[in-house]
Amino acid sequence: MSTEPEVIVKLERVEKIYKQGMIDVPALRGMDLEVRRGEFMALTGPSGSGKTTALNIIGGLDKPTSGKALVQGTDLAGMSRSQLSKMRRDKIGFVFQAYNLVPVLTAFENAEMVLRLQGMPADKRREIVVKLLADVGLEGMENRRPAEMSGGQQQRVAIARAIASRPLVTLADEPTANVDSATAELLLQLMERLNRERNVTFIFSTHDPRVMARARRIVHMVDGMVTEDEIKN
Ligand SMILES: Nc1ncnc2c1ncn2[C@@H]1O[C@H](COP(=O)(O)OP(=O)(O)O)[C@@H](O)[C@H]1O
Ligand SMILES: [Mg+2]
Repeated sequence: MSTEPEVIVKLERVEKIYKQGMIDVPALRGMDLEVRRGEFMALTGPSGSGKTTALNIIGGLDKPTSGKALVQGTDLAGMSRSQLSKMRRDKIGFVFQAYNLVPVLTAFENAEMVLRLQGMPADKRREIVVKLLADVGLEGMENRRPAEMSGGQQQRVAIARAIASRPLVTLADEPTANVDSATAELLLQLMERLNRERNVTFIFSTHDPRVMARARRIVHMVDGMVTEDEIKN
């Protein structure tokens, strides 16, 4: 009997071709990938290699031109729009390069967003989110708006928002691209600890070698295909 954690994300020969007027732009050219619960994985590769496209397809924000994208064994192509948005809400955490917080909401209100959409009662949301914000290093900043926080602090709010509902997998597209290297290091330490202590599965894209060094698995892409898949230690 194998004790390996279950495969939660699977891409099978995924192709993605964007149309730009008359021109076909191939973004993914037959990408295969399996991700298991608990992984801390970096998707690397030069700009234009398809990292963002791959994350968007895994997260159900975009659809393959051909091939299959499966989340817990379910083919996303077979889902209706409403099934897909429910799948995103309940199973996927998103962290973006530009934080994407709602500017008029406080750190607390941003972080509780998904729980609110899921219909969790206010007192339960408060209990979870106050603890979580403290855990990501933002105790006392619950009432600040994004403009009153540094980039690193905003990204901590975004990470809290992404993991508050304990999604199946958290996708982070170049999460450290907009912060200085010391802040990037602290954000990586935070994500690593959340992976260890809360078993948060992370798939993040990066082309920062220091970020890659922290990943336990590195999947390297060139021209829309996986060229290397290295599991460390
Ligand atoms: N919406 C789009 N329309 C047309 N081409 C796109 C679109 N999104 C991405 N591409 C193209 O697809 C390729 C892969 O892009 P992307 O997934 O953003 O790569 P990465 O995140 O690794 O930089 C690039 O050639 C890019 O120009
Ligand atoms: Mg990108």
